[in-house]
Amino acid sequence: MDMKCLVRQQFDSDALGLDFYRATRIDPDILGRELAALPLPYMADAKAHAQDIDGAKLLMRLGFRKMCVQPTFSQDLTGAAGAACGEPMGAASMPEAELDAHAANFPFSRFGLDPDVAQAARVAHQRRWIANSMASGEILKFIEPGAFVSFKLKDKAAVIDLISVLPQARGRGSLLLGRLRSWAASKGLTRVEVTTESENVTACLFYQKNGFRLDRASVAFHLHAGAGR
Ligand SMILES: CC(C)(COP(=O)(O)OP(=O)(O)OC[C@H]1O[C@@H](n2cnc3c(N)ncnc32)[C@H](O)[C@@H]1OP(=O)(O)O)[C@@H](O)C(=O)NCCC(=O)NCCS
Repeated sequence: MDMKCLVRQQFDSDALGLDFYRATRIDPDILGRELAALPLPYMADAKAHAQDIDGAKLLMRLGFRKMCVQPTFSQDLTGAAGAACGEPMGAASMPEAELDAHAANFPFSRFGLDPDVAQAARVAHQRRWIANSMASGEILKFIEPGAFVSFKLKDKAAVIDLISVLPQARGRGSLLLGRLRSWAASKGLTRVEVTTESENVTACLFYQKNGFRLDRASVAFHLHAGAGR
């Protein structure tokens, strides 16, 4: 089927074990028709700007439910001094047990907040995400015992993909952000950016404590069809 609003997501389909689609365009008629034509069961997601009230209502009329508000925090590096902090790694490996522990460390992800995603599926999805992030040569990372930050370069910004600090390593989060900031400034990047969930108050406080400011916010929506609740 040639779809104009929905795009099948291979990573999420594999990780969650069912067909997973992303609504990339919110057109009420076309999106409604495309959803109705999908074979069951499936899951879909969508994002709207937090202030796009009409877009949110439209998605909810089509059966999507609001999962969370996702604020994006950013830090301006213009004029920041770079410092010797070592180079980030490209492809890296992580012991299986540590991968398991980090995978369980994201209860506030939008899948963790979704009552229709089982905890085991949520952890398995997160584990694949972390493993992919580790294996990728394009996603850079700083890694410490019990803690890591991974990020991508986009234009002149470092965009954080994941950051996780296990409870026994608390304090290394600020250390990792400091290293990332120094390295990014030394490379002439102008911004560090990260998106989280507003329910993750610890992360919101953490970014603000480390000099990030709220930049914008979107809302994440999920739709489950035919899977039985
Ligand atoms: C968010 C996270 C990375 C913070 O790492 P950390 O090493 O524990 O953070 P730090 O010790 O450097 O803390 C710096 C500040 O963050 C805030 N903070 C960190 N942990 C906190 C907690 N449990 N409760 C409240 N505030 C907290 C505080 O403002 C703290 O400053 P303070 O120590 O002066 O009070 C870590 O809690 C984590 O991995 N959480 C789970 C994964 C996650 O949510 N990642 C972010 C998703 S986008």
